[in-house]
Amino acid sequence: MSGGSKRDEPIADPIRGRVVLVTGASSGIGAASAVALAEAGATAVALCARREERLREVLERCREHAPGSAMFPVDLVDLDSLPELAQRVEAELGPVDLLVNNAGVAKRRRMPDLTVAELDGVMRVNFYAPVVLTGALLPGMVERGHGRIVNVSSMGTRSAALRVGAYAASKAALELWTEGLMLDLLGTGVRAQLLVPGTTRTEFSQPTDDNEPPFPPDPNAQDAADVAAALIALLRSDDFEGFASDAHAATSLAKRSDPNAFLASVRDHLAPPTTGSDR
Ligand SMILES: NC(=O)c1ccc[n+]([C@@H]2O[C@H](COP(=O)([O-])OP(=O)(O)OC[C@H]3O[C@@H](n4cnc5c(N)ncnc54)[C@H](OP(=O)(O)O)[C@@H]3O)[C@@H](O)[C@H]2O)c1
Repeated sequence: MSGGSKRDEPIADPIRGRVVLVTGASSGIGAASAVALAEAGATAVALCARREERLREVLERCREHAPGSAMFPVDLVDLDSLPELAQRVEAELGPVDLLVNNAGVAKRRRMPDLTVAELDGVMRVNFYAPVVLTGALLPGMVERGHGRIVNVSSMGTRSAALRVGAYAASKAALELWTEGLMLDLLGTGVRAQLLVPGTTRTEFSQPTDDNEPPFPPDPNAQDAADVAAALIALLRSDDFEGFASDAHAATSLAKRSDPNAFLASVRDHLAPPTTGSDR
């Protein structure tokens, strides 16, 4: 393994003086992260999402700190357009040092009712778009000998995938793909990291026509700014994955250390032993 290479040492400051691309920057965690990265010294933030009005509002806030910032409206479902998007960003702002694949769509649907077309839509935004964007920007990063890719997953992979099996599957794919990327990039100076937020107060949980109703409000939900702060801390750490609270880290550890016990307790909570017929 070439992990001891000098070029794998953390770069002095992964944010200050850097060009950053954030997907899903029009709202929620992406908008908060874009502003936080600008405040932390990025020279330019490329803001990507579909809603132009919302991007414009975030752009104004980013430009207060990172005047070189710009917005690049895009529909990530259109995977073929993404290499050209990456080229445009680099032509306008310079080489991208940090890619934050944050955009995501929810899919609240019981597994027996899920269609392949629905799964495909979720996989495109949550998994394939990060893969294609990374593929477009990675050769330049490797060539320059430094760069960072942060993929935003979800505690949906670390708790119970109840009614969100498709969403959790897309994030699970993203997690292991990111782990593979991190390992395969050892020695190049480019690092891949994973941010694993839990329930966050954003538009993500709002009712939509293509989702089953949202879950009841979570009293422990965090603000998008807390998750943005966790992103900044992750970037400044040597860790592969980062959480937005110690409780999330503990839940993740509990499931990983004994998945049978963890899921048995979830199952007992949902369907007490005397009433269940699938046990
Ligand atoms: N909120 C939570 O409880 C929570 C928990 C764990 C993980 N996460 C993850 O955090 C990330 C951000 O979510 P959020 O909570 O900030 O939700 P949000 O406010 O709904 O933000 C989602 C972002 O993704 C963008 N997006 C969605 N579909 C897109 C498409 N086809 N093309 C381009 N952009 C698209 C949206 O922009 P446009 O609509 O303008 O395109 C928006 O900027 C997601 O990956 C989500 O899975 C959220």
